[in-house]
Amino acid sequence: MQCGEWNTLVEEAVAAPEVAQGPAGGAGAEVPPIVRLGDVAAGAGLPVPTGLDELDRALGGGLVEGSVTLVGGEPGVGKSTLLLQLAAAVAGGGRRALLVSAEESVEQVRRRGERLGTEADHVAVVATTSVPAIVAAAAEYQPDVLVVDSIQTIADPAVAGGSGTVGQVREATARLVELAKGRGIATLLVGHVTKEGSLAGPRTLEHLVDTVCSFEGDRHHAIRVLSVVKHRFGPAGELGVFTMGPAGLEGVTDPSALLLGDRQPGIPGSIVVPVLEGHRPILVEVQALVADSPLPSPRRVAQGLPAGRLALLVAVLQRRAGLSLAGQDLFASAVGGIRVTEPASDLAVVLAVASAAFGCAVPGDVVACGEIGLGGEIRQVVHTERRLAEAARRGFRRALVPPSAPEAPPGMTCTRLDHVAMALALFGDATHRPVPIRAGTLPG
Ligand code: TYD
Ligand code: MG
Repeated sequence: MQCGEWNTLVEEAVAAPEVAQGPAGGAGAEVPPIVRLGDVAAGAGLPVPTGLDELDRALGGGLVEGSVTLVGGEPGVGKSTLLLQLAAAVAGGGRRALLVSAEESVEQVRRRGERLGTEADHVAVVATTSVPAIVAAAAEYQPDVLVVDSIQTIADPAVAGGSGTVGQVREATARLVELAKGRGIATLLVGHVTKEGSLAGPRTLEHLVDTVCSFEGDRHHAIRVLSVVKHRFGPAGELGVFTMGPAGLEGVTDPSALLLGDRQPGIPGSIVVPVLEGHRPILVEVQALVADSPLPSPRRVAQGLPAGRLALLVAVLQRRAGLSLAGQDLFASAVGGIRVTEPASDLAVVLAVASAAFGCAVPGDVVACGEIGLGGEIRQVVHTERRLAEAARRGFRRALVPPSAPEAPPGMTCTRLDHVAMALALFGDATHRPVPIRAGTLPG
């Protein structure tokens, strides 16, 4: 195991295991109810909409009674804002929401609430860091939805160690899970995650809770993405998109329009890729810039794209298509503060890099999607139809796709590429001189 920090190992007392009493084999134990699945009431366990549409969409409809959801994210991304808005939406809808603020005073929460509008007035707030106090407050107020902000700052005085230690965080979570299940309260826990993804770990809690969401965003951009990493009540991988503004988080129903808003077609090194986030296709511009490097080992900088994947694609370009970037810095980014991790973006990244290297722009109405193998082959990606339909909806007319891709949607033509060398040939002759895209190479 690695934690990357020296001298951070903390000794914690472990309670002696209780010796099992009574007859062996469970004889004499009370038999728990055994039911036929078909007899279980269908309504139980269905998600109830919170009223915060993008969050409901990410969670497959809303929050399930008695469920526990962990919302992880870096400090400052907007977790407290999101969950106060959620509590406000629930309270505004006539249900009871209780917010446990363990980091901020009720006055601070009120100030945040003022920015969000009047609905927040209906949220009940309690400022405490004690687990038994939270349990007592929940018993008293009987909320439908309970928000605990954050799991790292609460502690049970009966458990050894201060708040934030692994033992405390795990014990506190276990108590809150018990509370949620016992009283049927939909519970949300805020968990801080550092850049390295650790800190007395929300990661260690993932198996204790029903749902794990990750709230991400770039400090310098307004866009915030809530992705569902684990979900016991529906598909994981779904996504909610928001922008952070002066009045809190606002749902974004058309992320493609937002992300492509200020795009300027005709610049070398740019192409659009339809990525799939959950069920939702989103159009993202991928950009690359290649420049002579003064450094002995040139830079390879990836922003919003996995750095390892970029290095791999550069190697594939060099070995399989003869495009060398030796002596040149390479910068590649997904525009708009969104993170693109899908291998489906490989072809677009390669085309952006080649376009930048040749100084030759890809026409503005072209999208590309396809995964690239180490042999330089271009492979199919899932749900190509859905991706292309979104691109067609936004006015794109041409798509570069793997050989096995389905038919293009109406109004769009597909060019099938089986190898990166073929993709590079779109930019001109085999010497890859910076020449415009050959007439007739692209259809339409
Ligand atoms: P916050 O929810 O406190 O983040 P976290 O709980 O994840 O640490 O909010 C983070 C940032 O959001 C903060 O720097 C201020 C900004 N913000 C806005 O831009 N608009 C708003 O309406 C609010 C409430 C916050
Ligand atoms: Mg906070």
